[in-house]
Amino acid sequence: MKNENLDSLARKLVAPGKGILAADESTPTIEKRLKSIGVASTEENRRAYRDVLFTTASVGEFISGVILFDETIRQKTRDGRTFVEALEQQGIIPGIKVDKGAKPMANFPGEKGTEGLDGLRDRLAEYRQLGARFAKWRAVISIGDKIPTRTCIATNAELLARYAALCQEGDLVPIVEPEVLMDGAHTIERHFEVTQQTLEAVFRALYEHRVVLEGMLLKPNMVLSGKECPQQASVQEVAEATVSCMKHVVPAAVPGLVFLSGGQTDLQATEHLNAMNRLSDVPWQLSFSFGRALQAPVLKAWKGDSANVADAQKAFHHRALCNSKARFGKYTEDMETAKAAA
Ligand code: 13P
Repeated sequence: MKNENLDSLARKLVAPGKGILAADESTPTIEKRLKSIGVASTEENRRAYRDVLFTTASVGEFISGVILFDETIRQKTRDGRTFVEALEQQGIIPGIKVDKGAKPMANFPGEKGTEGLDGLRDRLAEYRQLGARFAKWRAVISIGDKIPTRTCIATNAELLARYAALCQEGDLVPIVEPEVLMDGAHTIERHFEVTQQTLEAVFRALYEHRVVLEGMLLKPNMVLSGKECPQQASVQEVAEATVSCMKHVVPAAVPGLVFLSGGQTDLQATEHLNAMNRLSDVPWQLSFSFGRALQAPVLKAWKGDSANVADAQKAFHHRALCNSKARFGKYTEDMETAKAAA
């Protein structure tokens, strides 16, 4: 019975035309984002910014769930509703980031392991009480000289699987996020190879930990050329490489893949998602769980000024709409210019 609920919740999170907003930046990360628009990272500014996102009218048509941070799940809108209530009133499912960050791995220079398992069972119970229905844990794999090592991949896979098992025990849908970074000069072929190795280890660990695949979602990176690679793959090449890589290692029982944007521009992320959804014959919903690719234009329009809230919300609504269209392979470039003309 419990699993049946998790299955249907996981399917709701990847309902056609909808995807997830990742608004779970940790305090140091949101500080960086706010600094980029000249805004100090006070608790009130962080709250005001999230208020802009969560009270955007009609965005529930395109956004199925929002991932919150520990501070954010306890905050309220300007008009005194908890953020959880405000999201639920739009039909949006609240989720929560539960990892405590990727930390340097002892003896493995340049590699990281994600912390946060200690006390996780109790934290999950509290978050469930506060209204979270799903959770996220991010592992980070870097590509470089002689890395990633098998030890780093295996360690992160094990941590992800233990987290996912605890989530399902605590009645939350786990989003399993092993991010192979696009930083570096590697080719798209190398990114493919490392992503495949990583996902293979993750699914083996999930199987060993008896995680129910129907009641979870995978949050993978797209398969891309490294940011500094002189040879940049085309949109079609990225779409084909990503879907082919996923087909090799992601079981069909997983209801959906919710891609991260990982430092792509907002337009690139939408174009890639669109091109993937134009390829036929995939067993999963191909959706999004974007942070930067949904928020970059919102931050730029808001600038910390309450006089800009309407413009910032328009920008968010527009990006959410574009990504919703991309879920059907129906996004076109002129949607961007149509907006500029409006
Ligand atoms: P980006 O889309 O900015 O990569 O963020 C997604 C996310 O939640 C990373 O954990």
